[in-house]
Amino acid sequence: MKGYQVKRVAIYPGSFDPVTNGHIDIVRRGRRLFDEIIVAILHNPNKKGLFSIDERMFMLKESMKGISGLSFDTFDGLLVDYANQSGANAILRGMRAVSDFEYEFQLALMNRKLNRHIQTVFLMTGLRWIFTSSSIIKEAAQFGGDITDMVPPVVNKKIIEKFKARKKS
Ligand code: PNS
Repeated sequence: MKGYQVKRVAIYPGSFDPVTNGHIDIVRRGRRLFDEIIVAILHNPNKKGLFSIDERMFMLKESMKGISGLSFDTFDGLLVDYANQSGANAILRGMRAVSDFEYEFQLALMNRKLNRHIQTVFLMTGLRWIFTSSSIIKEAAQFGGDITDMVPPVVNKKIIEKFKARKKS
């Protein structure tokens, strides 16, 4: 007998300041597990990033436009509340190395304590992206380092423009 299937929706939350190839890899692979993924940028007024939320959103959409089953949003407050309101039953996170583990473990356990119905699913980051992080990319780019292999072309362009503009001002 064929039962009806619940749509599997996951939230892929993050700062995405900016999106990297590692994030794109996680979303692509996550889509094999979930029917829909909501890529959600945390809007944290206390934490000023390099890029504005609008700039991050533009780069996210541009770099993921070839992937089906995605929607994009921003959120503030608790992630589990946002997941609940969005009809998502899972939180998708990428895990790079041992250094990520402690923070991710804490986050997952706290989220589970806050809402037991939402599961955190981890995907191991692809080996190619194991050393790729938004912060290390920003630091390298700031001092003229070549980051073309680690970010989508739109991010490479925007980050160069951003640091050029900062030097002028
Ligand atoms: O890309 P990041 O910065 O590692 O993403 C962190 C994020 C956005 C997943 C995390 O900071 C978050 O979920 N913040 C929202 C507040 C919240 O629910 N925190 C966890 C329970 S206290």
